[in-house]
Amino acid sequence: MTGFALRVDDELELVLREAWTVAPLHELIMSNLQHLRPWEPWARGEQTEADLSAFTRHALGEWVEGRSLPTALRFRGRLVGGVGAQLNAYFGTAEIGYWIDAGHQGRGLVTRAVGAFVQHLFEERGVARVEIQTAVGNQRSRAVAERLGFELEGVLRAAQPALQGRHDVCVYGKTTPPEA
Ligand SMILES: CC(C)(COP(=O)(O)OP(=O)(O)OC[C@H]1O[C@@H](n2cnc3c(N)ncnc32)[C@H](O)[C@@H]1OP(=O)(O)O)[C@@H](O)C(=O)NCCC(=O)NCCS
Repeated sequence: MTGFALRVDDELELVLREAWTVAPLHELIMSNLQHLRPWEPWARGEQTEADLSAFTRHALGEWVEGRSLPTALRFRGRLVGGVGAQLNAYFGTAEIGYWIDAGHQGRGLVTRAVGAFVQHLFEERGVARVEIQTAVGNQRSRAVAERLGFELEGVLRAAQPALQGRHDVCVYGKTTPPEA
């Protein structure tokens, strides 16, 4: 049983990050540290299963309160990444993030899943604006945003820690569902 699942197509779905996802996601993160660390500040420190379990419990609490939608990306039955949203009910906005196993890049899985996720936020969650923040140099992430019709609205200077120094960060926004 799962509290939330969004089927994208025959081989791809987004499932709530419940307790059962901790062990497989921990294994996936450990095998992707070099891939994630340049762009995901959360991946920089030591990654223990206990920490991921604590984060998952916290995120599920936020989900219950309507402030978060933390999901794992499941491709052909196997967890291969994460897609999540922070929701602001007062403003009717969401900020999303995503990552995928290095070996599953380049097949359009993230674009497909994030497209369905964004559509869900607009159509089922009543969100009026979805935002993506990504480092200026993160070409793959920027390409996902642009493929889905997000518009570049500005650049926040030195807004994220980088492996060395800090990243300038692109703010992408979307105010209509992908198919509109
Ligand atoms: C950012 C990230 C999630 C993008 O992953 P990705 O695999 O490039 O994105 P997609 O799954 O949408 O795949 C796009 C690629 O598949 C190709 N593709 C194939 N079929 C496709 C389809 N049906 N639809 C869209 N793209 C398709 C695209 O042409 C593109 O190829 P290219 O990179 O050679 O140009 C990934 O690089 C990642 O996890 N990076 C590390 C963490 C990170 O940066 N997260 C974002 C922080 S804001």
